[in-house]
Parts: sequence; C-alpha cells; structure tokens
Amino acid sequence: MRKIYIFDTTLRDGEQSPGVNLNTKEKVEIALQLEKLGVDRIEAGFPAASPGDLAAVNAVARAVKDASIIGLSRSREQDIDAVREALQGAQDPCIHLFLATSPIHRKHKLRMEKAQVLETAERAIRYAKQYFNKIEFSPEDAGRTELDFLCEVTEMAIKAGATVVNIPDTVGYMNPQEFGNIFKTLKENVPNIETIQLSAHCHDDLGMATANALSAILNGADQVEGTINGIGERAGNTALEEIALALATRPDYFGAQTTLNLKEIAKTSRLVSKLTGMVVPGNKAIVGANAFAHESGIHQDGMLKEKTTYEIISPDTIGLKDSKLVLGKHSGRHAFREKLVDLGYELEETALNEAFAKFKDLADRKKNVTDEDLYALLEAKLVDSPEVYALEAIQVSYGNQSTPSASVRIRKEDGSIAEEVAIGNGSVDAIYNAIDKVTQETVELEDYSIQSVSQGKDAQGEVHVVLREGEDSATGRGLSTDILEASARAYIDALNRLIDKRKSPGRRDKMSLI
Ligand code: KIV
Ligand code: ZN
Repeated sequence: MRKIYIFDTTLRDGEQSPGVNLNTKEKVEIALQLEKLGVDRIEAGFPAASPGDLAAVNAVARAVKDASIIGLSRSREQDIDAVREALQGAQDPCIHLFLATSPIHRKHKLRMEKAQVLETAERAIRYAKQYFNKIEFSPEDAGRTELDFLCEVTEMAIKAGATVVNIPDTVGYMNPQEFGNIFKTLKENVPNIETIQLSAHCHDDLGMATANALSAILNGADQVEGTINGIGERAGNTALEEIALALATRPDYFGAQTTLNLKEIAKTSRLVSKLTGMVVPGNKAIVGANAFAHESGIHQDGMLKEKTTYEIISPDTIGLKDSKLVLGKHSGRHAFREKLVDLGYELEETALNEAFAKFKDLADRKKNVTDEDLYALLEAKLVDSPEVYALEAIQVSYGNQSTPSASVRIRKEDGSIAEEVAIGNGSVDAIYNAIDKVTQETVELEDYSIQSVSQGKDAQGEVHVVLREGEDSATGRGLSTDILEASARAYIDALNRLIDKRKSPGRRDKMSLI
C-alpha cells in the first residue's frame, strides 16, 4: 500500500480561522497531541508574521520530536531568515515557501509577469537551500493557474531544490476531476517529477476539499495537507480525519494509507475544538457528536441485528469509548483513576489529586458525572492561562419585569480583592459590565457562544467568548453547571489572555499573507 504523508496545518492555516487565537502554550499542547496522532509534518506557524509567532513556532520545534516541523515563508529572504531562527532546535526542520502563480494573483496582487514569478520563486528556493534540506514550495492559487505554467513552475522548483511541491486550491474553486487532472498532468509532463513529493492543499469553499484531496491521491499525490476538524480560512481546509478514515475504510478503492494512530482522532478533535473555541457541528463527518448516532427505528433495528448494516466505521476506531458508565458523588479515588485510564488519561499524582477534587466538587452539584463531563473537566485546565484576574464570587438578580443587575468579586494579581455592581440589558451583560468596572479595561465582546457539555437539565455549560481590544483579540473559555458563572469565567479568561498578549510585544493578531 502506498503511504500518504499527512501534513497538518491546524496551527497555521487552521489558526487563520476567524476568531481563533492560540497562544504559545496552546500551540505546543496541540502539537504534542498531533505527534501522538502520528502526523508526519506539522506546520507550526508563520514566523515572519511577528516575534510572537516566531517564538511559538520555536516552542513547538523544541517540544516535538517525532514529526517534521515546518515554518511558512513568503518568497523573501527576511521571511526565510525568520523560519531559520524559529526552527532552531527542531529535529527535522522544513521550510514552506509560497508565491502566487495564477493570472488573477499575478496581475492584481503581485503585479508580476510570469517570468518575474519564476525568478522570484527560484531565488527564494535557492536561498533557502543553503540552510534547509527539506523545502516545500507552493504555487499559491495553483488551482486557477494555467496548467502549462504550473508545469513550468514545478520544473523550476525541482531544479532549484524543492523536495515537495504543494498544489493549493487556495480559494476552493476546483472540483475533484479537475483537481486530480492537475496531478496527472504534472506527473506525465514535468521532468524529474519522481524525485520529489507532490502534495494537495484544498480549501472547502464549495464543500469539496476532502473529495479534491482524495482525487489528488488517486492521481498520484504523496501528501495531503489539512487541519483537524477542517478548520481554516473561510470555509476551512481538508479535514484530515476525513482523509484518514476514507483511506482506512476503502483500501480496496484507494490502495493507499496513512500511518496515523486513528485511536487518537477523537481526542485530537476535542482538544482542537476546545482550544480554538471552534465548536464541531453535530453532523460533522467522523468527529461530530451524531456521527455514530442511529435515530430511526429501521436503522436501530438493523444495528441490533448486525452492526455493519448501517455502520461503516466503528466508533472505537477513532478512540471513542462505548462505556457510558457514569461516576457520582459516592465514587472513590480508585474508580475515578480507573475511569480516567479508560478514557486515555494517565495523570501523575498531583494532577490526579487536583482533578479528583474538581470531580468531587462537580459531583456535589450534578448527580451523574458522564464521560463528556470528565473530558471537559480534564481539558478545561490543560493549558494554564495567565491569571491577572480571578473570579471569587458572583451574584445576579434577574426578573423579566426588572433591570438585571450583577455583583462580582474579583481577586487581582497583587492579591487585592475588588467588588463592583452593575446593571445590563440581560444577566450576562450586567456581569460583563461589572467585570469591566473592576478591571477598567475597554474591550469589545466580539463573539459569545454556549453549549452544553452533556445531556440533562443539570448538564455543565461551556461558554466561549472572543474579546477585542484594538488590533488584538483573544478567546476565553468558562465551564460551570451554571451558565452565568461559565459566562463570567470565559470573559475573565479572555481578558487575562488579552493582557498577556499586550505584554508580549509584536504578537500579531492575524496573519497577513501578501
Ligand atoms: O491556501 C493556500 O494557498 C495556502 C498557501 C500558503 C499554501 O495556505
Ligand atoms: Zn491554505
């Protein structure tokens, strides 16, 4: 079976999703989980975007041992130098250079003729070759580039020293047959094409990112680029879990496979969703909450008689546990530890004690503590956010005939306690106004979302917010059996991250790829 290399760009293209801002610790946490998942390559960011990005890529490069770490770079020397610096300490560094090649981009963005595009890209690849053994080159908007010019660009990239040529459908314009044909044409016409790897990078604007990438595989692509849960610019990128499962489910058809550890998929999906704040839709293929749910009577009947009637993938394949054994307030430390091991978490003593205390607290407020509750509880504190402010207490008064009011008590970094009261047009608004009074920060609430972690009236609510302050924005998360408390916690978490960002000079908000 042919091996398909998996290039994960959750931390770069995925981080370009609107509202997503990962700090360095979060990037490292995700990268380590991607390493467990067994991806071959991790694109950790765009070091030239800011010193903060460079530092984050460097932290990933030093933390990950079993995957190649990649830094993105425009075809410019200063960007290449930034990647060199960022990838210091990486076991297996690789630079990803790009330059747009389509007529639209050449004319309106680059204002370059074909010859200038070829020359600029060649100069960049040759410069990078002095420092990197592994170079990936992407003709941006390859999908809308003339095929003969794309062949010329690929030939130039191979001669200059690229080891991978990636074909991006930057704007998600392609359909599977057309996109596959690009690979076929390159394979048949470009001299020495067998000396490099060809890669597919698809966007999902027309909902065809996975189909296009699979078509590329059928036509000779060696590598697929994508993100976990398909997050990314606009409609997102190819969802890597979909590629992995398509190949694993239909080896008869594709004759190709990844070397991913499929059992880590569910965990990786949850972590990415949690840290990016991008909720996975219930009907999302492979990782959606309903992906393995059978609702209709006819299907349930079929499942009971023989699973394969309606199930082409077993949930266990992606690491989902069947056990719905719940814990409660009488469950002891031993049962708790066993349960965590069963869910794939081996905590050391201090972390286990901390988690157990939180579990006991939750079990006092909630009769049944489900697997989903435990995941939420464990993953809520995976990455310590800086604590400039901490919520001590909250009190809300609401009546539909009166003006909602809230009082909050907050502990500041220096240990002092501040308390404020405010009104608002709703309970959450009142809470946020009271927090603003304490912190004296002028921030804008850009997004607010809430979802229940499990089922039932006593389920925990998880709130995600995005706060903006000028050019900077930050996401925050809050978890509680009370949605108002979860709302307050999410707001304070985002505030703390925003302040942290302000303290790290040059941490840019969004990548500007020109
Ligand atoms: O979509 C795209 O073209 C990209 C490039 C930087 C490869 O993400
Ligand atoms: Zn992209």
